[in-house]
Amino acid sequence: MESVKEEIEKLKKEKKAVILAHYYVPGEVQEIADYIGDSYFLSKKARETDAEVILFAGVSFMGESAKILNPERIVLLPDPQADCPMAHMALPEKIQEMRNRYEDLAVVCYINSSARLKTMSDVCVTSSNAVDIVRKLPNRNIFFIPDGNLGAYVAAQIPEKNVILNNGYCPVHREITREEVEKARKDHPAALVLVHPECTAEVVRRADFVGSTSEIINFACQSEKKEFLIGTEEGVMWELERKCPGKTFYPVKSGQCCQDMKKVTLEKVREAMKEEKYQVILDEETARKARLPLDKMLELGK
Ligand code: 13P
Ligand code: SF4
Repeated sequence: MESVKEEIEKLKKEKKAVILAHYYVPGEVQEIADYIGDSYFLSKKARETDAEVILFAGVSFMGESAKILNPERIVLLPDPQADCPMAHMALPEKIQEMRNRYEDLAVVCYINSSARLKTMSDVCVTSSNAVDIVRKLPNRNIFFIPDGNLGAYVAAQIPEKNVILNNGYCPVHREITREEVEKARKDHPAALVLVHPECTAEVVRRADFVGSTSEIINFACQSEKKEFLIGTEEGVMWELERKCPGKTFYPVKSGQCCQDMKKVTLEKVREAMKEEKYQVILDEETARKARLPLDKMLELGK
């Protein structure tokens, strides 16, 4: 009898499909993906692909972004309930209020956001290009949505700009505390601390390196050090261990797990592929308006 993985491989060929997977989905799902990566890498792959079907192993904003960039292709999400809570944590009225207050305002929207929030924004960013893109904008006043922690990280790197913060957050990264970082350092004195910028400012300040999931993986692979404390979702361990044999990785805090990313299982990938469900459907106007900030990000990120 065929294994689930073999069935997926067969269906992938039959449907001329490509599987994109984020580092936070379970390891066995990453294993069957054509591309695994951070949000920026995956959005570039979504734009470049000529596959007829894109299956996004990730949360709904990722599938939406792939659909916005590929309105003519079928985009599938293995579990439509896998949604990022932060993607909804900004208020349209607040965006309007900021636009009324500052004439030269740029609304900068983290890609971890709903399509609706993207339609109200000037440019999207991911954690790997946010500092670079905000620096390139001519605007001095920036309203950064929805993640207040990534916004604070950007603000600290670009003090010459007025970065206005929103109060959204990632519940997984916000849970990591300063005390946990300090304790982890004491327990593993030889380890470098690598954290994601969705962590709070006091955690970010205590880290040796701050970066997106791909940047954390690249840093660990290239470093001469052998031990690392990882301050992000535990799914990155799969790629860290695969890419860096002989190095040791400890989580800063155990149980750093995004329940939504873990909803994406091999069985759901197989069913989604077999039945071409659950298709991402967006109304034309939302898709058209949300494409502008995504295209601008891909243009400025070059
Ligand atoms: P990156 O992989 O772009 O660093 O994003 C992290 C994240 O929280 C995705 O949900
Ligand atoms: Fe959202 Fe955080 Fe999960 Fe990423 S890890 S999908 S930001 S809740």
